[in-house]
Amino acid sequence: MTFTLGEDSPLLQPVTIGDTVAANRIFMAPLTRSRAQADGTPSDLAAEYYSQRGAAGVIISEATAVSADANGAYMNTPGNYTDTHQEKWAEIAAAVHETGGRMFMQLWHVGRMAHPDISGTEVVGPSAIAADLTTHTRQGKQPLPVPRALDTAEIVPIVERFRASARRAIDAGMDGVEIHSANGYLLHEFLSDVVNQRTDAYGGSPDNRARLTAEVVEAIVAEVGAGRVGLRISPGNPAGDMREVDTIGAYEALLNRIGGLGLAYLHVVADPSTPEFGVIRSLWPQTLVLNTGRATDTSFCQLEELADWGVIGAAAVGRAFLANPDLIDRLRVGADLNTPDEATFYAPGPVGYVDYPTLADLELKSA
Ligand SMILES: Cc1cc2nc3c(=O)[nH]c(=O)nc-3n(C[C@H](O)[C@H](O)[C@H](O)COP(=O)(O)O)c2cc1C
Repeated sequence: MTFTLGEDSPLLQPVTIGDTVAANRIFMAPLTRSRAQADGTPSDLAAEYYSQRGAAGVIISEATAVSADANGAYMNTPGNYTDTHQEKWAEIAAAVHETGGRMFMQLWHVGRMAHPDISGTEVVGPSAIAADLTTHTRQGKQPLPVPRALDTAEIVPIVERFRASARRAIDAGMDGVEIHSANGYLLHEFLSDVVNQRTDAYGGSPDNRARLTAEVVEAIVAEVGAGRVGLRISPGNPAGDMREVDTIGAYEALLNRIGGLGLAYLHVVADPSTPEFGVIRSLWPQTLVLNTGRATDTSFCQLEELADWGVIGAAAVGRAFLANPDLIDRLRVGADLNTPDEATFYAPGPVGYVDYPTLADLELKSA
């Protein structure tokens, strides 16, 4: 379906998120593309892929591991914990900046969503409760194992790895980092009252379940400054076999604790008509970036309305950006959008990565 954004559309107006001024309010959502090298260094094509999409208000990178043992959910996902990783990310940040774009790096620890055949390390989580899912490994599709519950003493080092990786991201020239506390990965697992059955200071009450995400946020803010830090959450989102009976308590505790820090933005994956979104919105009067989730196709009409009403500061768009490097230009003129090819979302190589045509490519072809 096509939709035209007029020049006065609120989605096409600049927005300040912390230390960054974004030229428009249509951000590129984080998208794992499984094309990184075996050691976690981003692909040689990544600079081209991201810079093709530099017209996004902000590009949020694919999820990037903060340490070797933070990886393992999918094959060929990148990291940012060695000098080699950092050098390649610096090339990517420079290529995006060259186009006038802005870029944040999404930082993750996959927690129980890992397979040791991918990471080469033990799978850990808040409690010994497995995600009832399979993942593709070199040996084929395999079920995810029961994780080992982290000892309390192992948690501070994890916070430290997030901090160190954020420092590397900023040193590589990224405009900021987004902490991944959504979609069933480690930080989200701690927020859950079902997956987290701990009896130490990191489990039980909402304050305790919020503690790990809050400590990661605080450590990164102390390291790089609040204006360069975003946080992604997905309350009640079942992705990653995530279960939460209490979908609000830990989020309320989290936002109350970090609300005064002055973060660049809060990124919420949610259907905006749900009660969870309403509660989060009321708890977070600052800049909110919305991603409407994978269950529906993006409605730019709905996003424009939400921006117009001041409900959202910006929208993050995933699959439409994946398939349309010139998404912003297409929306300006109401052009048809390319259809995302799911078969190449996580496939190696350039096809479905750097070869989606722009309008100009299509015009050349038809001339
Ligand atoms: C191929 C693919 C990879 C994704 N990788 C990530 C990721 O690395 N980090 C993340 O937080 N979400 C990830 N997501 C979720 C997207 O950021 C987004 O929430 C989802 O695609 C729904 O938005 P959309 O309808 O605009 O695509 C991924 C989604 C897709 C389709």
